[in-house]
Amino acid sequence: MDFYNVVKNRRSIRGYKNAAVPSEALERIGEAVRSAPSACNIQPWSFRVVLNDEMRQKICQCYSADWLKEAPAIAVVLGNAESCWKRLEGDPIISMDIGIVMEHFVLAATAEGLGTCWICAYDVEKMNKALGIMAPWSVYAISPLGYANAEPREFDRKPLDELFKVID
Ligand SMILES: Cc1cc2nc3c(=O)[nH]c(=O)nc-3n(C[C@H](O)[C@H](O)[C@H](O)COP(=O)(O)O)c2cc1C
Repeated sequence: MDFYNVVKNRRSIRGYKNAAVPSEALERIGEAVRSAPSACNIQPWSFRVVLNDEMRQKICQCYSADWLKEAPAIAVVLGNAESCWKRLEGDPIISMDIGIVMEHFVLAATAEGLGTCWICAYDVEKMNKALGIMAPWSVYAISPLGYANAEPREFDRKPLDELFKVID
């Protein structure tokens, strides 16, 4: 798929078929994740794709939507706010690094014909406890991964000239 079609086809998918994700697709997605840039190239994250039933159930208990249970795989992105680069004022840049690696993941999954959905509205403390994640690590985002069994919501964005300006 051409890059711009990948970008256009990437939508949040909230319903999944009961079909496994091919391991070759997972390998290619893993390389796309690995190539993500990060501040000072610190790569202060660890990306997990959970296929294991028991662990997926634990993850689902930390997020309220039932459709997550349908996904054959769930990506979990851990970040380390201590080891990441800090701005000159001291603010950790971890959310940006996580955002980039997560977007590499969702775009690579789209190129593989797979659906994803960024999820951040889970109980962070419960999630970290359920997965045995200890500070300074924390789960920053999760996403289902699998073949879509639902249409995305209607596409809705602000006007282009409000979001993107070319200044000459
Ligand atoms: C950082 C972030 C967090 C999000 N968290 C959730 C979430 O917890 N649950 C959910 O259903 N969608 C979540 N979304 C998906 C957004 O609702 C979705 O990207 C937005 O409505 C645009 O729709 P689209 O992805 O289909 O283009 C999140 C997206 C981002 C970027």
